[in-house]
Amino acid sequence: MTISPRDAGLKLLREHALIAGEVVTGAARIAVDDPATGEIIGHIPDLGVAETQKAIAAAVEAFPDWSRSDPHKRAAFLREWARLIDENTEGLGALMALENGKPFEEAKGEVAYANGFIKWFAGQAERLIGETQDSPLGHVILTFREAVGPCALITPWNFPAAMLTRKLGPAFAAGCTAVVKPASQTPFTALALAELAYQAGLPKGALSVITGDAATIGGALTSSPDIRKLSFTGSTPVGRKLAEQSAPTLKRVSMELGGAAPLIVFADADLDLAVAETIKGKFRNSGQTCVCPNRVYVEASVADEYATKLAAEVAKIPVGAAFEPGVKVGPLIEDKALDKVEDHLKRVRAAGGKVLTGGARHERGGRFFQPTVTLGGDDTLFREEETFGPLIPVFPFETEDEVLTKANDSEFGLASYLFTRDLDRAFRIGRRIEAGMCGVNTGLISTAVAPFGGVKSSGYGKEGSIHGIDEYVDIKAVTLALK
Ligand code: SIN
Repeated sequence: MTISPRDAGLKLLREHALIAGEVVTGAARIAVDDPATGEIIGHIPDLGVAETQKAIAAAVEAFPDWSRSDPHKRAAFLREWARLIDENTEGLGALMALENGKPFEEAKGEVAYANGFIKWFAGQAERLIGETQDSPLGHVILTFREAVGPCALITPWNFPAAMLTRKLGPAFAAGCTAVVKPASQTPFTALALAELAYQAGLPKGALSVITGDAATIGGALTSSPDIRKLSFTGSTPVGRKLAEQSAPTLKRVSMELGGAAPLIVFADADLDLAVAETIKGKFRNSGQTCVCPNRVYVEASVADEYATKLAAEVAKIPVGAAFEPGVKVGPLIEDKALDKVEDHLKRVRAAGGKVLTGGARHERGGRFFQPTVTLGGDDTLFREEETFGPLIPVFPFETEDEVLTKANDSEFGLASYLFTRDLDRAFRIGRRIEAGMCGVNTGLISTAVAPFGGVKSSGYGKEGSIHGIDEYVDIKAVTLALK
């Protein structure tokens, strides 16, 4: 008997937390809704400090055996976990679409993206390579890459699978154990992935998923001296607070925080390509992505042409609920997200910007907003605040120096994008732009093999790529005095 994608998703939905692989229900419950309808799809336990400490204790107990296990065994576990995820792509994609609202096809794409991290770090577990060096003291120095310890991993609602595996993949590869706190809006994908990890043979205690109030659980995780590493993806103000709370115990910390990505189009660019790639980059997760272009700068001589083409394409984007065929943009995660898009739109209009398409809440109501393009006005707001919604403000510029100054005049420095056919310019700007990542003639820069991370108030530390595992290992030097 075939079941609908929605039912396949609901089959994986578990209304509990997991401490050391054991189910925990808790008395108080938090409701999780489908952003497309507001309908409650399930509840999670509202756990607190005591349960978090239990999870930390389990991670501490599991750490010695797991961290000393053969890394090839950990690689085999990661590959088995990846196999189970591949096998459950439909169900996981549907579950994520239900709790996050992203289109089902896009959600399945995220499952594949997420699994890319597990597959990549399975290989990295096999390459925890040390070095030997002759010392000027007449000794030989050996280096070993050792797991940092039990980790706290705090993940956001916008990529419920990929942000989890981007942290757990390297953590497990290195031999770390982990306590995960998923966002309360989208906890079910994390719980389903954790269940599959245990099915794949993860030892008890190596992973707990704690649900509940973020400040309470975050406080318990960061204040614990047993947690040796914190990795957080989310907003800059929350990241700052967690870093502060982690300071007394001197934890290793990595932070993937907010962005305000500039996308620059020069007059020599392939404008059709620039339009298509702007749309691909901007409307991932309905504009709720840290690396989304937040402000588009176009050389004045082609600004009208680019903006007209962009608006014509954006006007055609199908908006709807996750399982409706052909849908490309879904609802926003919560009501206040729509208020923010409206506020940004109001401010760009007040500064003289013109709406070329969209410009209002969507006629189907609820949390849907029309994909919107504006032209002109003042870009200052967009240098400092992420819209995190389906609004593309376009601003004309005159010179390369002017646009580079504007692009860099921001507290943030996560992603950036550049469209030009001039290779010299691509190198020049690619090197001078203050961002952790720069896409040249592409709006898509995210993959397991690329180093992901920002500079300035966008955070520090790299995820994915050959560098991702460094966040979860300490280098130990053993000096041998050989006769
Ligand atoms: C994010 O929005 O935090 C992550 C986006 C990505 O992985 O591309």
